[in-house]
Amino acid sequence: MTSIDTSGELDDWALLEAQLAALCEGEPDFGANAANFAALLFHGLSRLNWVGFYWCQGEDLVLGPFQGRPACTRIPSGRGVCGTAAARGETQRVADVHAFEDHIVCDPASRSELVVPLLVDDRLIGVLDIDSPVPDRFSAADQAAIERLTQIFLAATRAD
Ligand code: SME
Repeated sequence: MTSIDTSGELDDWALLEAQLAALCEGEPDFGANAANFAALLFHGLSRLNWVGFYWCQGEDLVLGPFQGRPACTRIPSGRGVCGTAAARGETQRVADVHAFEDHIVCDPASRSELVVPLLVDDRLIGVLDIDSPVPDRFSAADQAAIERLTQIFLAATRAD
C-alpha cells in the first residue's frame, strides 16, 4: 500500500539555501529575485500547489510573483491567513485551512498553508505564502527553514 509522505525529509534545505544565494547574487532587482525565489520553492519543495508573494500596498496586500494557479489579486488588511500574518508580524502555520475561520480560498486544493511576513528594518513589506494540498504539510522545522530562506532572500535583495 502506498501512502503520502507527510514528513519534510524529502526537502534538501541546505541545497535550497545555496541555490537561493546563487540566484540572488549580484542581482539587486527585488521583483526578479522574488520571482526566482517563488519558482525555486515551488519546484524544489515537495507537496506544494502554490507559492507566491503578496506586497503591502496601502491597507491591502496585492499579488506579486507566484507559481501555481491564478490567485486572488488583493487581500484586505487583516483578512485571511496572509492578512493575519501581516497584521501580527508573525508566521502563520495552518495545519488545516478549513479550520482557520477567515481562510480565503484561492485554490480549493489547498489543505494547509504557511505564511511568513517579510520585514525590512522592522517595516512590513509583504508576505510569502505557501500552500499545500496535503493536510499538516508544514512542520515546525519546515517553518524555521523557510524563515531562514526568507532572510537570505531579504538580505541579498534589500528592498527600497
Ligand atoms: N489562502 C490565503 C489567500 C491567498 S491564496 O492561498 C494564494 C489567505 O487565506 O490569506
